[in-house]
Amino acid sequence: MAIRNIRLIGDKILTKKSKEITEMTPRLKVLIEDMLETMHQAEGVGLAAPQVGILKRLVVIDVSPEGNTPIILINPEIVETDGEQTGEEGCLSVPGKSGLVTRPNYVKVKAFNENMEEIIVEGTELLARALSHEIDHLNGILYVDKAIGGLHSSTDVAKA
Ligand code: NI
Repeated sequence: MAIRNIRLIGDKILTKKSKEITEMTPRLKVLIEDMLETMHQAEGVGLAAPQVGILKRLVVIDVSPEGNTPIILINPEIVETDGEQTGEEGCLSVPGKSGLVTRPNYVKVKAFNENMEEIIVEGTELLARALSHEIDHLNGILYVDKAIGGLHSSTDVAKA
């Protein structure tokens, strides 16, 4: 396992659309392990592959306080949303900043797990926010474009 370099805002790769994954490979397994390690080390609640320079539709999320409940999503798609939440959001690619973003309060996602088995993940509140934020990354979208009233300095917001 290894810590990968997190790409920062201004890097063009963060604005590109990621490609679907068609099969699990040894290289992808290493990437998943590295992304989990990188996310935990950076104290993030989520990380998308383009944030480590790989344009593939893969995200890892862990919103548990202990950092021991990782969710691995390949080719994730939002299939249902409900409600609304407006709150502070941060991104590992935009260090030291946060912004107010409106997201669905409930999100249902269809994806594949690391064994390429189809899974359904449902989340509310922070998990719904993280799912929405990470899937945006796969489409080249950063939360800064959705922040109401721009960004401000912040250190204690959840980063994804
Ligand atoms: Ni992010």
